[in-house]
Amino acid sequence: MCGIVAYIGTKPAKPILLEGLKRLEYRGYDSAGVAVLDGDLSVARAVGRVSVLEDKLQQAGGFGGTLGIAHTRWATHGSVTEQNAHPHRDDRSGIALVHNGTIENYASLRKYLEGKGHTFHSETDTEVLAMLIGELFDPERGIDLEKAVQAALKEISGAYAIAVICEQEPDTLVVARKGSPLIVGVGNGEYIVGSDAAAIIAHTAQAITLDDYNVVKVTRDGFRTSNLDNVSLDAKIQQLEIDLEEIELGTYSHYMQKEIFEQPASIRNTLRGRLDLSEGRVVLGGVSNFAKELIKSRRIILAAQGTALHAGMIGEYMIEELAKIPAECEFASEFRYRNPIIEEGTVVVAVSQSGETIDTLYALQEAKDRGALTLGVVNVVGSTIARETDAGVYLRVGPEIGVASTKAFTGQVAVLAMLSLFLARRRFMSPDASTRLLKELNLIPEKIEQILTQDATIKAITQKYINRENWLFLGRGVNYPTAMEGALKLKEISYIHAEGMPAAEMKHGPIALITDGMPVVVIANRGAQYEKVLSNIEEVRSRGGHVIAIANEGDDRIGSIAEDVIYVPETAEPLSPMLTVIPLQMMAYHAAVLRGHDVDKPRNLAKSVTVE
Ligand code: AGP
Ligand code: GLU
Repeated sequence: MCGIVAYIGTKPAKPILLEGLKRLEYRGYDSAGVAVLDGDLSVARAVGRVSVLEDKLQQAGGFGGTLGIAHTRWATHGSVTEQNAHPHRDDRSGIALVHNGTIENYASLRKYLEGKGHTFHSETDTEVLAMLIGELFDPERGIDLEKAVQAALKEISGAYAIAVICEQEPDTLVVARKGSPLIVGVGNGEYIVGSDAAAIIAHTAQAITLDDYNVVKVTRDGFRTSNLDNVSLDAKIQQLEIDLEEIELGTYSHYMQKEIFEQPASIRNTLRGRLDLSEGRVVLGGVSNFAKELIKSRRIILAAQGTALHAGMIGEYMIEELAKIPAECEFASEFRYRNPIIEEGTVVVAVSQSGETIDTLYALQEAKDRGALTLGVVNVVGSTIARETDAGVYLRVGPEIGVASTKAFTGQVAVLAMLSLFLARRRFMSPDASTRLLKELNLIPEKIEQILTQDATIKAITQKYINRENWLFLGRGVNYPTAMEGALKLKEISYIHAEGMPAAEMKHGPIALITDGMPVVVIANRGAQYEKVLSNIEEVRSRGGHVIAIANEGDDRIGSIAEDVIYVPETAEPLSPMLTVIPLQMMAYHAAVLRGHDVDKPRNLAKSVTVE
């Protein structure tokens, strides 16, 4: 969550900072602020969207400098107020700072600094870091801004990405990171810093990636990368792989809508060059160096959060069903703290769209510390998780801007299907069986296109139930995690309470929730447990529930027992979530729009959760 933008160069900083904030607003958006250095520090902050800050700046005038920092906040410490918005300043040295992350020992540091006579004005943890840097800053003793930042960061525990400027050093911008993302775009005599590439790509495609504990001092003449002991480090410059139109909305009403409709194309990109249909093989360059270890692995643990977790749960089913390797999917946050058993032959797969989710990153680091071979199933190229894993497979679905993840989910399932078949073909699966599944996988994009043509029908069905405040989502096998994903989609953007679960589990308690007319979405594709699902539908109906069934084309039984039916093409059962999820995404989208919510910036959420 939260977005950081900073600029140092020869152009006015303010418009560049504001444009960058707007491109990062999906990362967090409860308040925003900028600080520009033009002799003196000018600071403006506002609760609400970046547009509110922009209006404030227009009335304020000034802010003419060519060095500045900016921030969109997703509050962790301190309520959403102007006082708590970033940038935060110190009270002695003219320092301004923006921060993404949390400072876990802020209370003790604040007490120490108050004892040194510093006066605080906010409830945030971030202000403590600004004050600490100000306390350590002492140019007369050679402690310049860069050294003061290094010294201060040694004292804090927690996660941070920061950008810092100081009135006494009008030609210096200092940035640093640990756990939260930050990249430095290298322009022509200028540098644009951003939490991700979206803030930078309009200016340059060359960027310095920072590792944890890196500090970068940037001036108009160049930059220096160091560690917290002020030891110089070689900079890592990467080519950013997104282009501007990929992050433009185009003719769609929302990014989520765009990304739902992009899925035929995005999955074609995911599959491109990786399916050898003649040999029934999957070609995954990113893991080929570890093929032998993977083929002989004795257990595969998938770790993720949210939508990525649901994809990982489907991966668990596919790996066991197809590759015959014991697999389990866990909440990354739980995996990290439960003292996991990592033995010889254990592989840990981190699944993450952003590649920056700190719960997943810390779980990955725990797995590495315990000797596991680690893979990443990640969308953002060069992201922290992608760089920390031993190997991996990129989703290649393009930037996902909508806070509610859609094309990344189907991309993750497609990659996990390919990984399962990559292993299966090298273990016990016959070339014929593998070829049949790969051909089915190759047909998924056009089958999604067929589903997308039902948009009006799906909207009409959704409209019937948008005033019901509780929904259930049921599925079996690989479609149990799909049911959970459908519930999450609906919850996070329409604010309707929804719960996804195995269809059989419903009668062990949740059935008590079913009241007359309650919407119950049931994934009833023709799978191994189809008859059992029909029984579950009857159990729902006998208690007055209204069943919205996701069924296969040609199913002539479901219509007589379900209130509403959305038909999807058939495919091999392990691959079916890539089809059955599409109506669930579309229902969630329409429910949110019909209920008048901001689909792309749902309340309290952020696109990438970079705090624990
Ligand atoms: C998805 O709709 C949610 N916004 C959220 O659960 C997300 O999937 C989760 O935070 C994991 O993000 P990641 O894939 O970037 O790691
Ligand atoms: N912890 C800081 C605050 O609550 C930063 C939160 C963020 O990452 O936006 O202000």
